[in-house]
Amino acid sequence: EKSGYEHFMIKEIHEQPKAVSDTLNSVIKDGMIDLSEVGLSEEEIKEISQIYIVACGSAYHVGVAAQYVMEDLARIPVRVELASEFRYRNPILDPKGLVVIISQSGETADSLAALRESKKQGVKTLGIVNVIGSSIAREADNVYYTLAGPEIAVATTKAYSTQLIAAYTLAIQFAKIRGQITEEQYAGYIEELQSIPEKIQRIIEDKERLQWFASKQVNAKDIFFIGRGIDYAISLEGSLKMKEISYIHSEAYAAGELKHGTISLIEEGTLVIGVLTQPELYEKTLSNMVECKSRGAYLMGLTTFGHYNIEENADFSVYIPKTDPHFATSLAVIPLQLLGYYVSVAKGLDVDKPRNLAKSVTVE
Ligand code: M6R
Repeated sequence: EKSGYEHFMIKEIHEQPKAVSDTLNSVIKDGMIDLSEVGLSEEEIKEISQIYIVACGSAYHVGVAAQYVMEDLARIPVRVELASEFRYRNPILDPKGLVVIISQSGETADSLAALRESKKQGVKTLGIVNVIGSSIAREADNVYYTLAGPEIAVATTKAYSTQLIAAYTLAIQFAKIRGQITEEQYAGYIEELQSIPEKIQRIIEDKERLQWFASKQVNAKDIFFIGRGIDYAISLEGSLKMKEISYIHSEAYAAGELKHGTISLIEEGTLVIGVLTQPELYEKTLSNMVECKSRGAYLMGLTTFGHYNIEENADFSVYIPKTDPHFATSLAVIPLQLLGYYVSVAKGLDVDKPRNLAKSVTVE
């Protein structure tokens, strides 16, 4: 049921404030994170020596963002891996590690195989899963259910957003239990998380501007998304959304890597989307954008309100509400979902069922 929306994808984009707030409400009780349903005890959390996040596609991109947040807040080393690589490389896992498998469907063949490999090695596993009773949910030692509800469009939006929430709440709780943050910081992070649904809502309300911009990009041959740190994680997801449904070739690049290859692809008019939500990295990424511009790139800047000097260089700017930089992915991804969606619509493509793709990849 599309309930009046033209496609499932845009319906699901609109459902994100609710999906995020449902997921938050399932683990936040009286202003505190409660992981009792997930089943990880304080003792177990204290003992984790290493976190391995394993997933595919967008769920892997959640892992890339989660790595920055978990390492920075909880100070636990985190590795992120593609499930299809992990399962065949005979991984060396620390027995005191925690393997986190992220999967909307809970049926992705490579992610399931990675889970089984981890269990075989006797390492504790946690599934972040949306579909109740799915294979990964059944087989993982612990399950954190995201409450996105059924997701129909092949391109994930609301499941991705709830997976981020799962990662943040784990990071904050691990940080607290391991004494890495103060009570005050803990309360502050939780309060900030609770403001995310309303901020997502505000971004969605501004969708017409992105629709207009998207209509100008239908003939683009290549699009590059660049960012550093968490902004790189956002770029990965923005780029996947774009290529998967608009069929425009796009790449995400860690901005500092441009000079090691990609910049040779910049031609007159190539769209480069710079993601700049991390205050400490803002100037660095901006200077990479300027380097692209001097080689002919057409620049879109995606940053937070207040950073208006982006307009001195960017040809088109998009602003998101301020939040704690750890959580910026949740907001910055929204305009990029809308951009991919509207380019696909403007090209008259099958948005919800892009060619050659399936919602759940149950064969390797
Ligand atoms: O069901 P899963 O979360 O395990 O699926 C993983 C990927 O197949 C999925 O995220 C895919 O990349 C999406 N179509 C991206 O929009």
